[in-house]
Amino acid sequence: MPVREVLRYGDPLLLMRSEEVEAFDTDELHSLIKDMEETMAAYYGAGLAAPQIGELKRLVIFGSKEIDENPRYPDVDHVPYTILINPEITILGNELDGMWEGCLSVPGMRGFVERPNHIKYSGYDQFGNFFEREVKGFHAVVVQHECDHLDGILYPMKLKDMSLFGYQEEIVGALTDTE
Ligand code: NI
Repeated sequence: MPVREVLRYGDPLLLMRSEEVEAFDTDELHSLIKDMEETMAAYYGAGLAAPQIGELKRLVIFGSKEIDENPRYPDVDHVPYTILINPEITILGNELDGMWEGCLSVPGMRGFVERPNHIKYSGYDQFGNFFEREVKGFHAVVVQHECDHLDGILYPMKLKDMSLFGYQEEIVGALTDTE
């Protein structure tokens, strides 16, 4: 299975709403997930949404199987590897957390985005099993960032202060400020 091309910000496909997955445990779905896993690993992504490889399906993957550091996000909590299909997010509480986010569709850039820091999310795995989790911190950020892709939203659209956006190499000092 190949590492797939990641669409970049500006590609109109990234702005579209993805469709619900209706058939689970199919060869097509397993093969798409395998491609997404290999693509995310190749680029050290914290997560990847299906539309980022041009598949307009409500499917995201995130986290890692090993408890090791992701070189793109060295100072954050471990997030377990998760396949999340047809997700629903419920925001718990009004507290916001800010983080320097990046995106494989906006390569080389980072932007400071504030999001609710405590959420519940639910959805299905690749076999159609329903699950639900309550999470905080980086895990909550990753889920919201990836699920936004399913509605055509990329993190630069959520920036409140455009002075907190730029090339990763120029703002690397700020990248440790994740808490
Ligand atoms: Ni992204």
